Amino acid sequence: MTRILFVCLGNICRSPMAEAILNRYIDELDLDLSCDSAGTSSNHVGERLDKRALQKLAEYGIDAPHRGRQFLKDDFNNCDYIFAMDKQNLSDILKLWDNSGSAQIMLMRLYDPNPENEEVPDPWYGDMQGFEHVYQMLDRTIMNFLNEKLLIPIKH
Ligand code: 4NP
Repeated sequence: MTRILFVCLGNICRSPMAEAILNRYIDELDLDLSCDSAGTSSNHVGERLDKRALQKLAEYGIDAPHRGRQFLKDDFNNCDYIFAMDKQNLSDILKLWDNSGSAQIMLMRLYDPNPENEEVPDPWYGDMQGFEHVYQMLDRTIMNFLNEKLLIPIKH
């Protein structure tokens, strides 16, 4: 089973949206994957997603029961891929890394087929349009990652 962790700052907008989107593909396509999300900060531990993130996911028929949790050093051993949403997230993750563990650590948008820049922007200070923008970006990036890594089984 391939284990994927999405990481952002607060773990209430970007990374739990990515987790919810991938979880739906896992269910729909019966993929041999597990996923989770975490924040580099502890500010929103135990909280549900931002209301706007929940609303955007609901528009696409996706539920997100996730509760905020902070990124842990153990995550380096418990994941195969750790996707940072932006460069600050990546730098904060790497500060905790001792070069051990099984995880490949990278920017999420490395797999975006349409990457006009390298970061998933933080929609926290914006409006619903920002959440739509982030939703589309995460959705196409996750699907492209699954395709590139051949993680979608061919059904006979
Ligand atoms: P996220 O967004 O990192 O995508 O979950 C944020 C959520 C909250 C804050 C910043 C970013 N905050 O400053 O509280």
